[in-house]
Amino acid sequence: MKPSDGNNNPNRSVNDAPLVSLRQVGKNYATPAGRFTALQNIDLDIQAGEFVALVGKSGSGKSTLLNLMSGIDRPSQGEVRVGGAELHQMSETGLARWRGLHVGVVFQFFQLLPTLTVVENVMLPMDFCHVRAPRQRRERALELLKLVGIVEQAEKLPATLSGGQQQRAAIARALANEPPLIIADEPTGNLDTGTAEAVLDLFRNLVGRGTTLVIATHERNLAGIDRTVELVDGKIANSARIPTAQLTQEVLA
Ligand SMILES: Nc1ncnc2c1ncn2[C@@H]1O[C@H](COP(=O)(O)OP(=O)(O)OP(=O)(O)O)[C@@H](O)[C@H]1O
Ligand SMILES: [Mg+2]
Repeated sequence: MKPSDGNNNPNRSVNDAPLVSLRQVGKNYATPAGRFTALQNIDLDIQAGEFVALVGKSGSGKSTLLNLMSGIDRPSQGEVRVGGAELHQMSETGLARWRGLHVGVVFQFFQLLPTLTVVENVMLPMDFCHVRAPRQRRERALELLKLVGIVEQAEKLPATLSGGQQQRAAIARALANEPPLIIADEPTGNLDTGTAEAVLDLFRNLVGRGTTLVIATHERNLAGIDRTVELVDGKIANSARIPTAQLTQEVLA
């Protein structure tokens, strides 16, 4: 199977198991006011190679859902499977180990380690997961920084880079262990329009190379998206192959 063409790929067999599969997933939080249901009855399949946009109002549950797919958090109910791993069955330690090899996560505020240089930040996932021989890690990190267009920033500290450059470094870090899945939570939310578009171009490029990408976003008119999944009050209100632009103003507000 060539995963790069998303769900429209004519070569994809209907029997291909989804890369991400959520069944009746719920998430509750204990709050001083009692139990709060952030997600309920979520059924969602994402095929390998898809570029999926997760949209919905602030508080609708986008980050909560992404955190369950990336194994950052665990569901209160239901089943979360990613690439055959049963995340709902795994311990915290097991999840952390699994995550390092199987998912790359990109956050709105980059979350680079401030005391490490850019190239060292990109090497971190390889160091943690003992991926590649230590001597090859820097070389691989530099290749990734070249891919995202900031190799000349490699030896600088993150704080000396622009927001867009820091986000590119974070994307390079997310790619370090060649995860099949990238999860990005409002990755352009802190960037100006031009820089955001460049980051989205980079994502489209990655999808073209076969990476599966799920992105939470407030942006409309995202080009290159295979599918838009809309959350309303912790439930999936819509999961269709339609451009974000066609969703209601209210949902995206
Ligand atoms: N740790 C927590 N404890 C209690 N409630 C939480 C916790 N995390 C999230 N929530 C609540 O769950 C709901 C969903 O939050 P979530 O962060 O997933 O929304 P979101 O769609 O990502 O919003 P935004 O667009 O503002 O990032 C919100 O009402 C939020 O207040
Ligand atoms: Mg969020």
